[in-house]
Amino acid sequence: MILQKDNHFLLSSKDTSLLIHVNEVKKVSLEYLGKRIDSLDYIDGVIRSYPYLQGSEILYDKEKTGYSLNQAKLLFSTLGKGDFFSPSCLLKSDSLSVFDFCFDHAEIKTPETLDSLPCPDGGEEELIITLKEKEKNIFVDLCFTTYQDENVISCFQRVRNEEKEALIVNKLASLQIPLINEGYELYSTYGCWSGELSVQHEKVTRGKKVMESLCGWSSARHNPFFFLKSENATFDEGHVIGFNLMYSGNFENSVEMDAFENIRVQVSLSPFSFEKRLEEHECFITPVALFSNSQNGVNKMSQDFHSFINRHIIPKEFRGKDRPIAYNNWEATNFDFNQGKINSLIKKASELGIELFVLDDGWFGERNDDTKGLGDWNVNEKKLPKGLKGLAESAKKHGMQFGIWMEPEMVNPNSNLYQNHPDWVIHDSVHTLSEGRNQLVLNLAKKEVQDFVVESVCSVLESADISYLKWDCNRAISDFKNEDGTFFFSYIEGLYSALRRIRERHPNVLMENCASGGNRFDLGMLSFFPQSWQSDDTDSYQRTMIQEGGSLGYPLSTLSNHVACKVSKTRLRNTSLDTKFDVACFGVLGYELDLDDLSKLEMKIIKSQIEFYKKYRSVFQWGTFSQSNLLENKEKQVQVEKDGVFLIGKYQTLQSAYPKEKRLTVKGVEDTKLYQYTTRQHSIPLQSFGSLVNYVTPVHINPDGTLLNIISHHMDMKSEIDTGILPGAILSSQGACLSQEWSGVGYDDRVMKLGDFGTRLYLVQIYDPSISQ
Ligand code: GLA
Repeated sequence: MILQKDNHFLLSSKDTSLLIHVNEVKKVSLEYLGKRIDSLDYIDGVIRSYPYLQGSEILYDKEKTGYSLNQAKLLFSTLGKGDFFSPSCLLKSDSLSVFDFCFDHAEIKTPETLDSLPCPDGGEEELIITLKEKEKNIFVDLCFTTYQDENVISCFQRVRNEEKEALIVNKLASLQIPLINEGYELYSTYGCWSGELSVQHEKVTRGKKVMESLCGWSSARHNPFFFLKSENATFDEGHVIGFNLMYSGNFENSVEMDAFENIRVQVSLSPFSFEKRLEEHECFITPVALFSNSQNGVNKMSQDFHSFINRHIIPKEFRGKDRPIAYNNWEATNFDFNQGKINSLIKKASELGIELFVLDDGWFGERNDDTKGLGDWNVNEKKLPKGLKGLAESAKKHGMQFGIWMEPEMVNPNSNLYQNHPDWVIHDSVHTLSEGRNQLVLNLAKKEVQDFVVESVCSVLESADISYLKWDCNRAISDFKNEDGTFFFSYIEGLYSALRRIRERHPNVLMENCASGGNRFDLGMLSFFPQSWQSDDTDSYQRTMIQEGGSLGYPLSTLSNHVACKVSKTRLRNTSLDTKFDVACFGVLGYELDLDDLSKLEMKIIKSQIEFYKKYRSVFQWGTFSQSNLLENKEKQVQVEKDGVFLIGKYQTLQSAYPKEKRLTVKGVEDTKLYQYTTRQHSIPLQSFGSLVNYVTPVHINPDGTLLNIISHHMDMKSEIDTGILPGAILSSQGACLSQEWSGVGYDDRVMKLGDFGTRLYLVQIYDPSISQ
């Protein structure tokens, strides 16, 4: 809802209102951001007055004696009229160095979508506040969109040049939000390959903190999502404001605080190497930024982003549509496979109940390792004589869909593509090219490269019955030539254009975003890709932290997680298949280990995981997700709920010598209703008991020997099952008392053997005596 009265604008999302005020000197400020109000009556008391200048500030206008732009709560700012925060907009022209924009007019209208950049659909109303440079015909539009029943507001900005003289845009933030410090803590993510989305938090202090990427992609260095949590807020209570940028390239998000504890938050395209020239009548439009204000803690902010992304950002064809359980051969085979191996994996995957078979890297050109063949998208018939068609048919025959991996933006120098089109790669024409994973980046800023990408992807998709595409991108951009000042931006526009064309031709192909894992996981990509491979790190403990960071800002339906081999290839940490499942199931589940290596017992374990997941798939993918705290606190609980079914994951870091009493609490249950809770039973590998196996065996067994290995292919230990019925009032406060944790003494089915990095999964649902006895 958007209301206007005199010089006030009230923008409201479901639970939040923003009051935008235009003052006597026509500056536009944000005077309120808090709980929703529905009227512009009685609001004067929230508007700050400026009777005297603070210290040595610069007076903006002689008539308004105490007003300095440096103290004002500006939604848009430039340098040169007494505002010394980093400006949200940096312009220049031959005749102007200082730009002074003031309110010109405003309009409330039905929102339109952007042409070349992704933006959420289904907006309710749009408020466009137009500012004009005082002496020149240069205009800036601040465009805010509200969405019915959502608690997210989107914003972008547009600068228009109506002067004959050219205007250079060096920076235009999508969003600037001024705040007064509430003891804020800034939560953001950092990371690298196989360690994406690690959460960090720090007190906001005076100065400027920047989270940015200059890699060409949004990158794993920092995700564009971040939030501010007021001092006393928790995961379930208090004031939290989250921000995100719907863009996949270089960005610069910042939080700056001055001596007076005035804060300005900016969400922006990176100004680095950015110089957009606007001739007369031309305009530049920023990517869309989103923000969400919560008065009920971190979880509410996350949930509001989750439902918004599910309903307004991911492609329409996949909204609310359950995602298949995939098997991907990458960790099992890497490049080393042939038709026989893939057929064997197809057969096993189908026995397990897998629904989608994905053939990863290595199926094309001379691609037997990562040094050759990238860009040559013709099937390697030596490896796969029956081609993709044959494999797709075989998958289909076994009751599965078929999917394929491609890395369309890249090329190995050792490939036919590079030999034929060396000029298609990004290069500065001066230096020797720097390779990453033995590959170069194709220049998608060029139309002919976009055409090549569209045609090569579409012809692969059309060559067989392919219903899924994993789109990878395994290196960052280097060696660029920024001829017209917008190279990085043009690349991303080119990428979006190619993706749009591919989606138009194949709207029902499920596309999974991947960039060496989560190196380009952002809302721009999610507008084309309903789901995203989170990380090449499939170790369950590292993954708990990756998913923790991801789920703070992104819905479970977008997080693609696989159960992979027990000893993780990245961390060499050994965790059981059930522990891996307890982590991977919160999102879109898949498997990635060598199925030919599995014992009968392990096949059985995975089969029962898949049955369980299928039964509760819509809860895991579409339910309301919340978490108790960060894993840095040693223990963590996450839960997802849909239609009264709760699934709760419990994770711990290291096993303690003095374990605390374990309890299961549930959020969102009704006090007076009865609920039944049950552990999803784990299969505990015999080897994990070490030499203690000898306490129960009639003869001595070497804990590292072949005999135990053979026995463990057929036998395991079953974990405890905690089950009971309790009123919601107890479950949501003290919680159910769980089994005693193993502490080096007795072990039987009343003892929970979690161990280091251990997990449990609980199912909680309303007690129905007719079903549950
Ligand atoms: C990247 C991806 C992996 C796999 C390989 C194939 O690393 O993240 O999942 O597809 O490429 O080369």
